[in-house]
Amino acid sequence: MASRGRPRPGSLQVLAAVLLLAAASAAAAGSPGRPAPGPPLFLPLTRSYPNANRLAGSLRRGLGEGAHPNARMRLHDDLLTNGYYTTRLYIGTPPQEFALIVDSGSTVTYVPCASCEQCGNHQDPRFQPDLSSTYSPVKCNVDCTCDNDKNQCTYERQYAEMSSSSGVLGEDIVSFGRESELKPQRAVFGCENSETGDLFSQHADGIMGLGRGQLSIMDQLVDKGVISDSFSLCYGGMDVGGGAMVLGGMPSPSDMVFSRSDPVRSPYYNIELREIHVGGKALRVDPRVFDSKHGTVLDSGTTYAYLPEQAFVSFKDAVTSKVHSLKKIRGPDPNYKDICFAGAGRNVSQLHEVFPAVDMVFGNGQKLSLTPENYLFRHSKVDGAYCLGVFQNGKDPTTLLGGIIVRNTLVTYDRHNEKIGFWKTNCSELWERLHIGGASSPAPSSDTGSQADMSPAPAPSGLPEFDVGLITIDMSINVTYPNLKPHLHELSELIAKELEIDSRQL
Ligand SMILES: *[C@@H]1O[C@H](CO)[C@@H](O)[C@H](O)[C@H]1NC(C)=O
Ligand SMILES: *[C@@H]1O[C@H](CO)[C@@H](O)[C@H](O)[C@H]1NC(C)=O
Ligand SMILES: *[C@@H]1O[C@H](CO)[C@@H](O)[C@H](O)[C@H]1NC(C)=O
Repeated sequence: MASRGRPRPGSLQVLAAVLLLAAASAAAAGSPGRPAPGPPLFLPLTRSYPNANRLAGSLRRGLGEGAHPNARMRLHDDLLTNGYYTTRLYIGTPPQEFALIVDSGSTVTYVPCASCEQCGNHQDPRFQPDLSSTYSPVKCNVDCTCDNDKNQCTYERQYAEMSSSSGVLGEDIVSFGRESELKPQRAVFGCENSETGDLFSQHADGIMGLGRGQLSIMDQLVDKGVISDSFSLCYGGMDVGGGAMVLGGMPSPSDMVFSRSDPVRSPYYNIELREIHVGGKALRVDPRVFDSKHGTVLDSGTTYAYLPEQAFVSFKDAVTSKVHSLKKIRGPDPNYKDICFAGAGRNVSQLHEVFPAVDMVFGNGQKLSLTPENYLFRHSKVDGAYCLGVFQNGKDPTTLLGGIIVRNTLVTYDRHNEKIGFWKTNCSELWERLHIGGASSPAPSSDTGSQADMSPAPAPSGLPEFDVGLITIDMSINVTYPNLKPHLHELSELIAKELEIDSRQL
């Protein structure tokens, strides 16, 4: 969604575009049908040879974290000066570098194309397909919108804030930087031929789409079986910027709080927000207020937070009533009617002494406690003054939670288990806190029994070792094609190979 605008969220991208374009990825694996359960067959499995491949990968996906490498990437930029966080992605051979906004509300990754007719000036040179020996255009197919002149698939994204991006789809090797265990992978991305609005004027080159959709970088990597179906973001705090991102699974701290995230309820990453407490007291609003339209959506590409009218008024009144010792002043920009308070002091670590604690209570009763830096931004013109980073979502009844809400919070989008986890932490030192080393030095965890119950990161190469007590695989094949019968042995060899087990065990 990549929204930086203050008064109105850049809000949810046009859904039709998602649906129309969702199927353009050629690499999508179909979901296997469920066979009728028969009596289970128990076998001890012995591993044959390490041959990571697609089927084995997708089967291993269910075995939990640690079975796959992940992509550990640093985040740059910050909320107030840029309005977004970016990561570095490298596309092509030799690699061309890009700074992309990490956006859980977008479903495609795109960079300005050398041939772009309407692209702004960004921080890196445009992508030059001709300079990459591994680039290939995505040829027209039944699933995509086609540019008939070029016989190449196209994409288009429009955002409610009136910015847009369109171009052609290409495929190339994408690499995730030096700290990533995950090896470079082929992936489909957009090569932009036109940008408008914020996408034109921003410093960052483009968007890295982490949303739900077949063109999402997440879906592509998961479908290839190279990462497990989860990613995490950790945004730095007020005045700090930067942070960390992990594509793929990672161990969750034992005191992480979770909310269910129902992919059927909304195409966006939603959470079940039930109540907001200010200074320990629940806002007196109908809980259904957080479940209208798209419900409560978490969007890493939006800067601030936007509540439906009733909840916003109640929130603003509750915070204001708790800070009557502070002077209410005008915002830094006369174009916006920001609600700001002066006299709180410069030290962010002391803001909780003046501003109330805010808790978000989820459907399961679990509670995420926010600190003032999660709902305030620093007044750029008055020292020691802060403004509410929570706004009314116009007349839109959707609750939209952007980056400010999750500053200094590790957020795990656990797509596999349909839940989203939150853990307050100092994101500037996340790797150290989680005892995870970089790929070049796969520091085995020196587990010092911190509050988080961590397991060591998997070894960077080869198949990680893991002990399996018992695997039950229900498989039934109904052969009605008589000519297949003589090939049953061949078939079982193939299945054994894909499962990486000894064929005599099938
Ligand atoms: C900010 O406040 C914290 C906690 O009270 C304190 O430890 C720190 O020294 C303060 N920093 C500055 C720069 O005053
Ligand atoms: C977080 O960690 C960074 C880097 O170690 C440090 O500079 C910063 O003061 C820490 N922030 C807080 C709130 O402790
Ligand atoms: C196998 O498939 C055929 C044709 O679909 C069906 O009639 C038959 O009942 C199936 N047999 C079993 C054991 O499922």
